[in-house]
Amino acid sequence: MNQQEGLLSVETDRKEIHFPLSFEEWEQKAAGMMQPGGYGYACSGAGKGETGRRNEEAFGKWAIVPRMLSDVSDGDMSVTLFGRTYKTPFLLAPIGMQKLAHPEGELASVKAASNLNVPFILSTVASHSIEEVAAAAPTGSKWFQLYWSNNEEISFSMVERAEKAGYEAIVVTVDTVRTGFRETDIRSEFSPLSKGLGKANYVSDPAFMKALKSQDDDAIVASILENIQTLSLHWRHIAKLKERTNLPILLKGILHPEDVQTALEYGVDGIIVSNHGGRQLDGVIGALDALPSIAEAVQKRIPVLFDSGIRRGTDVVKALALGADAVLIGRPFLYGLAAHGQQGVEKVIEGFTRETEISLSLSGIANLSQIGRLKMVRA
Ligand SMILES: Cc1cc2nc3c(=O)[nH]c(=O)nc-3n(C[C@H](O)[C@H](O)[C@H](O)COP(=O)(O)O)c2cc1C
Repeated sequence: MNQQEGLLSVETDRKEIHFPLSFEEWEQKAAGMMQPGGYGYACSGAGKGETGRRNEEAFGKWAIVPRMLSDVSDGDMSVTLFGRTYKTPFLLAPIGMQKLAHPEGELASVKAASNLNVPFILSTVASHSIEEVAAAAPTGSKWFQLYWSNNEEISFSMVERAEKAGYEAIVVTVDTVRTGFRETDIRSEFSPLSKGLGKANYVSDPAFMKALKSQDDDAIVASILENIQTLSLHWRHIAKLKERTNLPILLKGILHPEDVQTALEYGVDGIIVSNHGGRQLDGVIGALDALPSIAEAVQKRIPVLFDSGIRRGTDVVKALALGADAVLIGRPFLYGLAAHGQQGVEKVIEGFTRETEISLSLSGIANLSQIGRLKMVRA
């Protein structure tokens, strides 16, 4: 064997994998791994995609004015949410039907999140049930995202199951009283819910199964679709939920400061500033541009989390500086999952950790309690 052959075989034995680095590279790799319908579903937004674009562009319109001579040698970006401390200010956003990205779906993502001490938010329309996900990562922090059901006994039942299975918070998504007008999916006739891909939490739910008229697949899917469109969703539902659970309740999808005032009156425990990654109402404000007025309205009384457009560590710093206590990583982790399963999700989180850490040091911020020292200006 000559030297060159030897080197080659060493590399083969080590099976060196080259992971993507930037969001764009992860997205490109995911596009090659996912079925076209599933990828179209993941990457596209509602309408003409105005909000999706605006979410990302909003970051370029804010600039960080860093601080110098700040001694950042004791770098620490830990954050405490609802009594639990995490080393990084990240959570994995609720993303439905993760089997579209990888055969192991949410089980791979929750293990990755748990290994890196990042809370995992399980979607109502997941490919795996509340209990299966809990069993896959028993010690990891898990929150449950609720799509309110028209038959509210189903909502209460899912919340009760989540509480029993050790989930630590309930995220009620309030921007999805019906699905947005998603042209890509309409064109490709791709409706994963109609294919039954998001049924795991329903078919394992006693209240849902009890209300079913027939247990065949078509009836199950029809009943999910009937329950998930909740045009009547109102603050009174939040009041009822408060009575039914001891877990903290966060509202995901708040963009208007006056909704913050109402949320506080109803005893809501946290706000997630989000426009669902541009997948719901097209034409709405870029989520980052909504953040300062929400943070102002909250006045630090409850945690303010943020998502929609977070693509890299500098985005995280900007969101923190504009008032977020932590951020949800959405599409980037989904693409990591599609490209390399659990390991891909871990690599994406590690990439965020590294760049956020570097960016905070270079901004002159040693720990997140100092984030107010940064000035943010319009670029
Ligand atoms: C494919 C996909 C599925 C999603 N499913 C859900 C869901 O089931 N529940 C929910 O509250 N949000 C869902 N979201 C929205 C995310 O939680 C998050 O708000 C969004 O991804 C943020 O935008 P970004 O990924 O562009 O940063 C989904 C997003 C994507 C891309």
